[in-house]
Amino acid sequence: MTFNPLTEKGIPLDRQLRNWRELNVAPLDPEPPDPYTRCRVIALNGIEVESIMFNHQFARHCPVPEVRRQLAEVRYIENQQQRVVNWLLPGVASVLETTLGYEQVAVDLTSWVARMEPDPYLKQAYEFGVLEDFDHLYRYANLYEMVEHRKAEKIVDGLTEVMPGRPTKLEHRHPQDNVRDPYNRNTTDPLSKLHALTILSAEQQVMSYYMNVGPQYMEPIARQLYQEISLIEQEHVTHYESLVDPGETWWEQLVNHEYNECYLYYSFMTQETDARIKAIWELHLNMELTHLKLAGDLMRKHDGRDPAEVLAPELPEPVRFEPNKEFLRNLLATQIDLTTLGAGYVREAHERFERMQEQLHGGAQPPSEQVIDDHREMFGTEYRLETEGPHPIEELRAKNGGDQR
Ligand SMILES: [Fe+2]
Ligand SMILES: [Fe+2]
Ligand SMILES: [Fe+2]
Ligand SMILES: [Fe+2]
Repeated sequence: MTFNPLTEKGIPLDRQLRNWRELNVAPLDPEPPDPYTRCRVIALNGIEVESIMFNHQFARHCPVPEVRRQLAEVRYIENQQQRVVNWLLPGVASVLETTLGYEQVAVDLTSWVARMEPDPYLKQAYEFGVLEDFDHLYRYANLYEMVEHRKAEKIVDGLTEVMPGRPTKLEHRHPQDNVRDPYNRNTTDPLSKLHALTILSAEQQVMSYYMNVGPQYMEPIARQLYQEISLIEQEHVTHYESLVDPGETWWEQLVNHEYNECYLYYSFMTQETDARIKAIWELHLNMELTHLKLAGDLMRKHDGRDPAEVLAPELPEPVRFEPNKEFLRNLLATQIDLTTLGAGYVREAHERFERMQEQLHGGAQPPSEQVIDDHREMFGTEYRLETEGPHPIEELRAKNGGDQR
């Protein structure tokens, strides 16, 4: 497989605008035959939203009138792409069902990235973060059964297990300990840049989704759980965005964004099982090829550098959504008790961590613990989906039997 987005020809920009009929896509089945189709939709929505927000920020910092106009033109197309991608989500799915999809994306996309990441420090950052979103999936799955009387296996379909990860209450760290060291833009593997951009985009969309939908619930425990987990997602955005070298120029960042869009549309096009959706990924890939070319021209003109200097010579191995059960069980067994101190990781709770925990929890039980107690009270057990046997950590095995299959 060789696909070089820098040499492939795309759809000219003046032919990328779509009319209402073309924008009006039919949504996915609420229970699609392949749940990873929903995951790909969610992941690509996060990618498009980041590309739009980045483009806005760039325009606000750019004094060159013709560049501002070109950014606006591409940004309009990015917005149409985002509307098409996100409008594939079905209106009949509840907020909690979409939430379970979001956490499944966080678990299986971050696991993939952790497995493929060549730099050990960056790899550790993904391994650390994924155990936290894994725990969110478990907390929301318990809330889902209480509020909607349905089971999360309807959504994750046994592809992703549902059981405790690093307990959410221990994920509240002092903000200073969420800032990692960045990679070096001149020496890092180009794949590492794509990984960081992909995961920060996914986490950013989860954060903004929870901070907006949380208050739509009437049930106090639901409102509280969204409040708590949305604050963790903000920590995750900080954690992952701090991996990106802040010395990258705006032109370089624009090229990285467009290249990453090409990479993900190409990846998901090759993996997509739904032919109708696959055609959308292919169309968007062909649009992104032109965005990348335009960004590259800007870089050559205004940055005096060739985009090939900062990008991979050809696309890395395509990103795939696939089960990561053994990978996650191994992380649970070896990394669940990690926390952060400065830019690194430690196993002991340190003073700054303890102080943050005391101030935030105020001696009370956080919503993420309450939701499990409430579920036990209502159903006699907690909700889990342990397809590969009991939890690898003895203390985290289900009490009074759990809800195992
Ligand atoms: Fe795009
Ligand atoms: Fe999460
Ligand atoms: Fe997260
Ligand atoms: Fe783009």
